[in-house]
Amino acid sequence: MTVTRAVVRGVGHYLPERVVENEEFVSIVDTSDEWIRTRSGIERRHFAAEGETTSDMAAKAGRAALDMAGMDASDVDAIVLATSTADLTFPSAATMVQAKLGTGGFAFDIQAVCAGFVFALSNANALIVSGQAKRVLVIGAETFSRILDMTDRTTCVLFGDGAGALLLEAEDGTGERTDRGVLATDLNSDGRFRDILYVDGGISTQTTGHLRMQGKEVFRHAVEKLAATAHKSLEKVGMTGDDVDWIVPHQANLRIIKGTASRMSVPMERVIVTVQDHGNTSAASIPLALSVGHARGQIQKGQVLVMEAIGGGLAWGSVVLRW
Ligand code: ACO
Repeated sequence: MTVTRAVVRGVGHYLPERVVENEEFVSIVDTSDEWIRTRSGIERRHFAAEGETTSDMAAKAGRAALDMAGMDASDVDAIVLATSTADLTFPSAATMVQAKLGTGGFAFDIQAVCAGFVFALSNANALIVSGQAKRVLVIGAETFSRILDMTDRTTCVLFGDGAGALLLEAEDGTGERTDRGVLATDLNSDGRFRDILYVDGGISTQTTGHLRMQGKEVFRHAVEKLAATAHKSLEKVGMTGDDVDWIVPHQANLRIIKGTASRMSVPMERVIVTVQDHGNTSAASIPLALSVGHARGQIQKGQVLVMEAIGGGLAWGSVVLRW
């Protein structure tokens, strides 16, 4: 049986020039490099320059993915951009990227906070499988530095800015798990947990607001829900942790990444880790990790990847993909 698969043709990323080491926070809040490293695994993060926006970074990551694929902007018929930190209330940051790159077709944003990239990838896959688009640029891009409360040590040290992108193209597959491309997805949300991770402002409250998080509570949900969603999407294609070449997790906290890998019985040698250099870049963290993992020579054609993420909502999910 012939089925349509969404296959990766290109990957790329962009990180702002400014690197902020843990030490910089010592003069801002009551913290230490040692606390940040041991509790989160983070050593540094990038912050966008003044005037540098989410769509600027997204366009650069998208351009890099197009270059790797050897495609022109005119070849792309959709942009799906995951972000919680769009440049403006409207139009969508995706349409701004469309104008910057010169792509045709259509473009829209997806907002599922740190789970945004798996939601975007799942939606892009659906567009390709249903025949609504042939080539889709899926981007995760954030400027979380703009919503940090720099007087709150429990959150301001954890986040960073950046962007990553995948270029997906329709390809005929056999319907078997040996096909390349997206093999399974699993999406979840539970709005009862809105108070443990949110921004205390928004359009209808007339403020931009700051990120607020009950870190311990989020942590407790994260390990359990991430392992469960990864198992669920692997089960859909008859796979287990043993079949996975790489876990590419949302990069929020090294202890969450290790806890989830352990629950999946996957050794850390088969986990892509970038949290030490990027911090938590929300929807950008997985495509950034994919791009860095590919550039390091870790991720190779034909390998099985499972991506998993959780964020505000709560919203969480996973995608199994053969690279
Ligand atoms: N420097 C020094 N001390 C600190 C800091 C800091 N930056 N931040 C907190 N502390 C203190 C606390 O005040 C507390 O002190 P107390 O015991 O005197 O009250 C102590 O350190 C321990 O704090 P905990 O919150 O218990 O520390 P924990 O080990 O749980 O680590 C952390 C906190 C890193 C936030 C962790 O809970 C975590 O990573 N949670 C998950 C975050 C996450 O994954 N978010 C994902 C999604 S994000 C999104 O969707 C936008």
